Amino acid sequence: MTGRSAPSRRLATLAIAAVIGLGMLALGVGISPHLAKHRIAEPATGGFHPPPESAIPDNEFGRQVRLGKAIFTDTGALAPTYVGNSLRCSSCHLDAGRLANSAPLWGAYPLYPAYRAKNGHVNTFQERLQGCFRYSMNGKPPPLGDPVLVALESYAYFLTMGAPVGAKLPGQGYPKLAPPPQRPDYARGAAVYKASCALCHGVDGQGQSSNGKMVFPPLWGPQSYNWGAGMSDIANAAGFIKANMPLSQGGTLSDQEAWDVATYMDSQPRPQDPRFTGSIEETRTRFHASPTSMYGRTVNGVLLGDGRPTNLEHGSPMAAEGAADIASPKAAPDALKQQIRPDGASASSPQTANDR
Ligand code: HEC
Ligand code: HEC
Repeated sequence: MTGRSAPSRRLATLAIAAVIGLGMLALGVGISPHLAKHRIAEPATGGFHPPPESAIPDNEFGRQVRLGKAIFTDTGALAPTYVGNSLRCSSCHLDAGRLANSAPLWGAYPLYPAYRAKNGHVNTFQERLQGCFRYSMNGKPPPLGDPVLVALESYAYFLTMGAPVGAKLPGQGYPKLAPPPQRPDYARGAAVYKASCALCHGVDGQGQSSNGKMVFPPLWGPQSYNWGAGMSDIANAAGFIKANMPLSQGGTLSDQEAWDVATYMDSQPRPQDPRFTGSIEETRTRFHASPTSMYGRTVNGVLLGDGRPTNLEHGSPMAAEGAADIASPKAAPDALKQQIRPDGASASSPQTANDR
């Protein structure tokens, strides 16, 4: 239980990190590029290093690259038609999509076009990006060829220059965690959340803003990612959290803590899955038949996936912290441990896994 070994020291470090974050925001400086230096996420050897900012050429292509980076880091302001929450691409792809083990753009770009079980055909990179807008950004996909997608693709291509095409580079995606020693637990997750996350993301998980600008993004509720997003899958979230959170302290949580806090976070209300069929049960069967999705489960009296992410005031699961009552017919946590393959991959079928 590393979470209990030095709670006050951890809290103090977090407080410092939070102050640095807010301070840098006040100065108009991005948070992650600076703190990223202190992360352990960079592969020890043989890691790919994307070209520096200074290598962006001074021509029309370079202008698209810069625009793509700006959209990636300030998505709501620069692509408002397509964004339905207060996240930005770099909320989850840290250091403006450069950071290894944070699903960096240079890890993704060389892997497309690719067949995706999620929609059953070969997807271009632009089509892959459309999914991010629909699910992670809870918005609507820009049409193929839209200037927003052209700019984002230009930025991804620039970051990938020098990397081999078709190769899965070290640091691609988020790490896949091995199954935890104990089955993931909501109440333990709530305790981890309180000790290591609430300072920045808020006790209510709604994040924090300063001067109308979001500083610490919401983890659940109406302004967060929806139930179709990859992050709403506990296994994906655990990998992201283990490698990247608390911000600037990636790798400090145990695997167990990462699984527990991911379970807590992904047992909270959030916007409806845009693939909703009209029935929660049917939507669960078709798209969430995975032990690592809480969609359609009832947690502390709240039915998850009822499309009312705003019901936070009335009986939100987080309000009943500690009352780990995952009351569902086929309760996820039990199933979770058994159904996760020994190689750490979720046993959910590719057809139903959320991967965006
Ligand atoms: C809420 C968190 C979140 C946000 C916000 C988000 N993504 Fe993602 N993104 C993910 C997750 C989770 C995956 C799946 C990663 C994996 O499969 O390992 C992913 C995957 C991707 C991939 C494929 C990565 C790979 O290695 O195959 C790309 C490209 C991508 N996102 C781009 C974007 C863009 C562009 C935006 C903004 C429009 C965005 N994302 C917003 C969480 C997010
Ligand atoms: C020091 C402040 C800080 C702490 C502590 C912290 N985070 Fe974060 N977190 C951030 C920031 C800032 C971002 C967005 C990064 C960006 O936009 O560059 C973020 C992004 C995220 C995201 C993706 C975006 C979203 O809103 O869904 C998740 C999930 C997340 N954090 C979970 C956690 C969890 C779980 C913990 C505790 C284990 C934690 N964080 C602790 C600052 C923090």
